[in-house]
Amino acid sequence: MIICQCTGTTDRDIARLRAEGLGTVAAVAKLTGAGRNCAPCRSEIVRLLTLPMVGPTDAVNAPSASDSICAA
Ligand code: FES
Repeated sequence: MIICQCTGTTDRDIARLRAEGLGTVAAVAKLTGAGRNCAPCRSEIVRLLTLPMVGPTDAVNAPSASDSICAA
């Protein structure tokens, strides 16, 4: 799901950064540009960064709506 309309940053991008230890708004902004332009996405970035982590890579590896179920 796209979180930042200006940069196209997704929830998976943010989860990946968080799993890599870059789970701050400043780090997300620096590495993706999200929240640096018009900034309405900042509250959603904060929300994603403060969600409980189930596992270090669970959010990164979770299938998205665009992932194919069958690779055959
Ligand atoms: S929507 Fe994220 S900076 Fe504009």
